[in-house]
Amino acid sequence: MKKIIIINGPNLNLLGKREPEIYGSQTFEDYLNVLKSKYAQLDISYFQSNIEGELIDKLQDVGFSYDGIILNAAAYTHTSVGIGDAIKAIQTPVIEVHISNTFSREEFRHQSYISPNAKGVILGFGLQSYDLALQSLI
Ligand code: DQA
Repeated sequence: MKKIIIINGPNLNLLGKREPEIYGSQTFEDYLNVLKSKYAQLDISYFQSNIEGELIDKLQDVGFSYDGIILNAAAYTHTSVGIGDAIKAIQTPVIEVHISNTFSREEFRHQSYISPNAKGVILGFGLQSYDLALQSLI
């Protein structure tokens, strides 16, 4: 069974109540259950943190043994040289996802420290972005 982890960055623990016009009204926990039953052939784990160093620790933890990492680094996407370097350092392929289309938003969201080292990038499809990322790993 392929081992996949979904890693969510800052403020994504508030999905469902955070700016629902941009991010939707479903909690990530609810959506994760949908994904787990849809992709029962995958071993899907989940980690969320609001803390940059904890995201780096998790990437290092899983990055030499898992088959795939789906990463929404949220605001750190646009600022974190450290997370970008961690992705370079590990072996597991990373798929960058975003719920919103960051290119249709403020200019500071057009920069990503994740993309240059990601296997691919999926953005703008709402929570379905995570589903599309999982499909790419099957
Ligand atoms: C986000 C986009 C980021 O710009 C923002 O900081 C987020 C969420 C998204 O999934 O659309 O927190 O990564």
